[in-house]
Amino acid sequence: MGTIRLALIGAGGIGRAHLHAAAETPGVSICAIADPNPAARAIADAFGKKLYPDHRALLDAEQPDGVIIATPNALHVPVALDCVSRGVPVLVEKPVADTMEAARLLLDAARKAGVPVLVGHHRRHNRIIRRARRLVQEGALGRLVAVSALALFLKPDGYFDVAWRKSAAGGPVLINLIHEIDMLRFVCGEIVSVGAATSNEVRRFAVEDTASIILRLENGALATVILSDTAASPWSWDVASGESSTLYKTNADSHFLCGTEGSLTLPSLTLWRYPGARGWGQPILAESMAVAPGNPYAEQLRHFAAVIRREEAPLTSADDGSRTLAATLAVKRAAGSGEIVTLAG
Ligand SMILES: NC(=O)c1ccc[n+]([C@@H]2O[C@H](COP(=O)([O-])OP(=O)(O)OC[C@H]3O[C@@H](n4cnc5c(N)ncnc54)[C@H](O)[C@@H]3O)[C@@H](O)[C@H]2O)c1
Repeated sequence: MGTIRLALIGAGGIGRAHLHAAAETPGVSICAIADPNPAARAIADAFGKKLYPDHRALLDAEQPDGVIIATPNALHVPVALDCVSRGVPVLVEKPVADTMEAARLLLDAARKAGVPVLVGHHRRHNRIIRRARRLVQEGALGRLVAVSALALFLKPDGYFDVAWRKSAAGGPVLINLIHEIDMLRFVCGEIVSVGAATSNEVRRFAVEDTASIILRLENGALATVILSDTAASPWSWDVASGESSTLYKTNADSHFLCGTEGSLTLPSLTLWRYPGARGWGQPILAESMAVAPGNPYAEQLRHFAAVIRREEAPLTSADDGSRTLAATLAVKRAAGSGEIVTLAG
């Protein structure tokens, strides 16, 4: 295979990020776009791509090597099934599906057809996160005991002009927390149970604006995430990491991973350890583990091309993406019932 020809289905906010990322990824090109919205015409023209209003017409006419699905959540599985039935590998945006039932449909169809599915948990392709995962796995922190993730940001009022974002299908748990859950699973380990409280005290929408989450990991560590889309704060991965060029980069740390031998803060990748005797009366020193910056969306596309060539297995398979979705949906259940929800193994 020479250059991998990808089609983009859904040319909204993240679809445009994929178009930019493809432009800086060697060996891949976007051959066409499908989007029924008339506003997509300007985007297709700006990037010099052919536009189809219907994704099935695109699939049949263009026969792409792979497809990026960047549609609203409820369309991920129906569109992915159309690709899988034609034998076309997909990079489907997160969440893999809007329900666990839909996720299972895709999982079964892809397995039967032998077509790879990559879920767009782009943070797994971030060099900072990959370095953090290696440090944890190599034991640089000793035994992981506690993790704290801050996902505290202020979405501007205009963000909520789109009606669904104020409904039960919107809110920071389903839109944003899923990234934290996937990152925790990837870096720190599998989640076994979830407790949560949510609040809509500030925005007063039907959906939460703030949440506090307690997670127990399979390796025995405990993790907390505090989440709010109404907090004027520099402490979230989104603004601290610089992943999005449209957000103001704060350079603050948002994630704190603590073990028996040391602790790591992210995204700065600062490793704190005792150089000599251990204990809170002793000096504990910081060392930078920083890595060269990279674009996780471009790295994700490089990986997708390798998945299409069957050279690499999907870093986030449909099964893996389903586990992240299950843990995220469990947060909603835990907050609703006030009970701790245990996840199926
Ligand atoms: N990984 C990330 O960093 C990230 C960031 C933002 C959004 N997302 C995910 O990407 C998806 C899209 O989010 P967004 O913010 O870009 O939404 P958006 O509303 O900006 O864009 C969605 C696009 O899909 C198009 N669309 C609707 N129906 C379609 C159809 N039948 N065929 C083709 N196109 C269709 C819409 O016209 C729109 O242009 C969501 O699932 C979201 O969770 C991922």
